Amino acid sequence: KPPGPCSVVIFGAGGDLTKRLLVPALYNLAHTGLIPEKFVLIGADIAKRSADDWKNSLHKTLESFIGDPNAEDQIKKIDENTWSKFAGHLSYVQGDFTDAAFYQALKQELESLESQHGTGGNRLFYLAVADRFFGTIVEHLGEAGLVHEKDDAAIDAPWCRVVIEKPFGHSYASAQALNTQILGILKERQIYRIDHFLGKETVQNIMALRFGNGMFEPIWNRDRIDHVQITVAETVGVEGRGKFYEQTGALRDMVPNHVFQLLAMVTIEPPIGFKPEAIRDKKYELFAAIETLTETDAVRGQYGPGTVAGKQVIGYRDEPDVAKDSAIETYVAMRLKINNWRWAGVPFYIRTGKHMPQRMSEIAIRFKKAPLAAFQGTSLDTMPPNWLVLRIQPDEGISLQFEVKRPGQAMRLAPVKMDFRYRDWFAPEPNVGYETLLYDCMIGDQTLFQRADMVEETWRVVQQVLDRWAATKPSDFPNYASGSPGPDAADRLLSDDDAGRRWRDVALPKTGG
Ligand code: BG6
Repeated sequence: KPPGPCSVVIFGAGGDLTKRLLVPALYNLAHTGLIPEKFVLIGADIAKRSADDWKNSLHKTLESFIGDPNAEDQIKKIDENTWSKFAGHLSYVQGDFTDAAFYQALKQELESLESQHGTGGNRLFYLAVADRFFGTIVEHLGEAGLVHEKDDAAIDAPWCRVVIEKPFGHSYASAQALNTQILGILKERQIYRIDHFLGKETVQNIMALRFGNGMFEPIWNRDRIDHVQITVAETVGVEGRGKFYEQTGALRDMVPNHVFQLLAMVTIEPPIGFKPEAIRDKKYELFAAIETLTETDAVRGQYGPGTVAGKQVIGYRDEPDVAKDSAIETYVAMRLKINNWRWAGVPFYIRTGKHMPQRMSEIAIRFKKAPLAAFQGTSLDTMPPNWLVLRIQPDEGISLQFEVKRPGQAMRLAPVKMDFRYRDWFAPEPNVGYETLLYDCMIGDQTLFQRADMVEETWRVVQQVLDRWAATKPSDFPNYASGSPGPDAADRLLSDDDAGRRWRDVALPKTGG
């Protein structure tokens, strides 16, 4: 059912995120009847333009963005009825986010539209801006009296929420400082720290797989699991974001946020219910149990020139706005330990990189082998292991690899796969991945958002490695060719633990795990 009446203000209305994801997601919600009747959407940005101009520019690009950009078979046609109704709720306020006068203009527009559309003073501020603005905007919103919520949050009292994009801080200390700053103005229940990986169906589904079934949890622990590999491989490079990337690197860009969210989903303890704090408490406990990483647990890489998907591509150092001797990593691999009863002794290997041979994100759980090679011709060394592979994207699904008897007179074994593919069971919905997250903000469900303590713990885990890497320039960069599976050094993270242990192949087309 649609959320209650509310106004949404997007800071960064002219930005890429708004155009590509936020407005398309809101449009998709409107199309399925999940936008309130009493609704206002205000775009805010520095550029001088009229509301009509903003609307028209959104309409122009909407068609190319309303479907999942990676699913070619989706219907991508604007329903003009939905659009014109939706566009009737749009407005635009121009100004400088660091100037108090802008917030007065915003307040005026907001109050006038609120009374016109009857949104009851419920406000959602979405900060789709560079992270240096997060603290400033929240302070100004506070000073202008735009985000005040009554202490008791009486059932009918208007609510005010602020969505904060990533990166939330760029280090342990800066994440703590940002939390202190915004918690001086907002209550935790008003803050929605977003991680768009949690908008993915396949990521939310991990909870369903684990806690909606009785058969997995009993084997989901150190007794039966040998190790876990999490891969987030991208074929794209830095896509013109050289400036941003030179300040960020693969570790900051992907690990404490996206990759750790995947990790948390597969490793948290069962919550007592699907309630925001029940789940967020478990995630916090999990992050707090991850051992602080040291340099020996991490390998960094940077792509040189090469071939990705048949196309010649340049090396990172030749990308625009990148230093010719850049020490920034475009690939990172790590070995993590989780110090709790469930996971003690089970290594978690994670890796993420740009210009990889294929786009592929998966969580692969490797089970321990049978204790005995009972069949003739088998040995413990050569017996293939059982893998449960959760395919996050693309080719979304889950597969289980196990041994069967190869038909014939002899008792010979062969590995096979049981495969669930989303597309075989569910019709694709137009979905850009932000629909659920935006809907949850409007209904006030914080389950899929990060709490202050969770974010700080994730930075704590990686901070030492960030410091070491900043202090020591790598001598071997670039150390992997574009289109290769990453630097050789990443292999030792696994082989040091067990000589026969290997990364799963990232170069093969993935169908069925
Ligand atoms: C973003 C990173 O947060 O996530 C990008 O800044 C990365 O560098 C992107 O490419 C990956 O997201 P998705 O949803 O395309 O897998």
